Amino acid sequence: MNVKGWVRSFRNNQFIALNDGSCMGNIQVVITLDTDEAIVKKINNGASLSVDGTVIPSLGKGQKYEIKADSITILGECDPEQFPLQLKNRPSLEYLREIAHLRFRTNTFGAVFRIRHTLAYAVHKFYNDRGFVYLHTPIVTASDAEGAGEMFSVTTLPLGKPPLNEDGSINFKEDFFGRATNLTVSGQLEAELGAMALSEVYTFGPTFRAENSNTARHLAEFWMIEPEVAFNDINDNMDLAEDFIKYVVSYVLEHNREDLEFLAQRLADEEKQKPMNERSDIALIDKLEFVVKNEFERINYTQAIEILIDSPAYKKKKFTYDVKWGIDMQSEHERYLVEKHFKKPVIVTGYPRDIKAFYMRQNDDGKTVAAMDILVPGIGELVGGSQREERLDKLTQRMKEMHIPAEEMYWYLDTRRFGTVPHAGFGLGFERLVLFVTGMTNIRDVIPFPRTPKNAEF
Ligand code: 4AD
Ligand code: MG
Repeated sequence: MNVKGWVRSFRNNQFIALNDGSCMGNIQVVITLDTDEAIVKKINNGASLSVDGTVIPSLGKGQKYEIKADSITILGECDPEQFPLQLKNRPSLEYLREIAHLRFRTNTFGAVFRIRHTLAYAVHKFYNDRGFVYLHTPIVTASDAEGAGEMFSVTTLPLGKPPLNEDGSINFKEDFFGRATNLTVSGQLEAELGAMALSEVYTFGPTFRAENSNTARHLAEFWMIEPEVAFNDINDNMDLAEDFIKYVVSYVLEHNREDLEFLAQRLADEEKQKPMNERSDIALIDKLEFVVKNEFERINYTQAIEILIDSPAYKKKKFTYDVKWGIDMQSEHERYLVEKHFKKPVIVTGYPRDIKAFYMRQNDDGKTVAAMDILVPGIGELVGGSQREERLDKLTQRMKEMHIPAEEMYWYLDTRRFGTVPHAGFGLGFERLVLFVTGMTNIRDVIPFPRTPKNAEF
């Protein structure tokens, strides 16, 4: 038979550990004494080989079978004096980020990207099995779905000398699309249009945010899954999100056991380096199984604020940011709720309307909206969503208050004019999901080539 792959190690001038990335394990290739000396010299870590040989039971420990090489062809040499992965003994994740073009060849990143793939597949399978339609929403758009203004412009106008209007502002009529455009921050508004006919749709695509947050949980380019469902209310929305998360997590538990076990061990080793009081008391696979088997906690925003104010952390002034009704909870607050208080995923509903987007359905109290965020241990916010405001008058009124130009959004408002229905949806940040499942701690390590402030390498 023939095997091809990259050399992971070469022991005693006899045993090659060859890996082609299809799984964690290597195949052991045993070379014979009459293998050409010139070829043996080129079997260095990182070199690529094609091996013809015979599969035989292995006498050594660690594998059942091995390949006795009849002939070896060096496909690509690899100079150990220059190969970056070879130069450091146990390269740190930070170092591997600098050589992201080569980090796929490590066990850690092999496991992470195989799991990322399984998760993406499970996302489509989950929605397909439930009859949802996968909708491709535009990447270039003229609207700001979240109203947060954190957008990357898309233009072909000359930056140095753009055409100007009489008042000195840029004349976007001369731009490629005849108007100012940007990269999308969310496919939600277009998904809502689809849901108003197809009933159950979802998007799964790249989204872009020019927010200058240099944290371990923010990317400027990330992937988001956004289901949108006609006739769903906020409770249906929570049920869908909870089922969805449990499904994709259990799919990985079932299909990527070996990768998970490797990452669990890696995480356990990392935890051992930390001081006792900062260690997580639950192992990766146990954590995932716990999430699949237990109900998420459901509380409202007001209860969340009360819990925080009653907490020892608040009383001992451990929070950097203040807590009172009306605040946009910071990651430290979200993580307190899930990691210290409930020790499980939490769905928070009924946020103050003043900190949420214009499209969320207003509750009767006049203060809150039918929003929901799902918070998970180690990450904080994994999902943000809501029931949508389907009442034309309430929606236009809110847009006016928030200075969102109704004329430009006529297409969005048309769905409320022509056969409006209650509907709801949410967005799940795909990289945050991969972080949660792999136990990795920096979002830059779960997307092949991260885009973050001051970084667009590769
Ligand atoms: O809460 P967000 O901003 O919600 C929306 O965009 C809605 N339009 C979704 C909807 O209702 N259809 O973002 C949704 C999720 C967050 O919960 C988070 O997981 C992720 O997207 N997210 C990010 N992930 C990585 N980097 C960033 N900069 C992110 N911003 C949001
Ligand atoms: Mg959010």
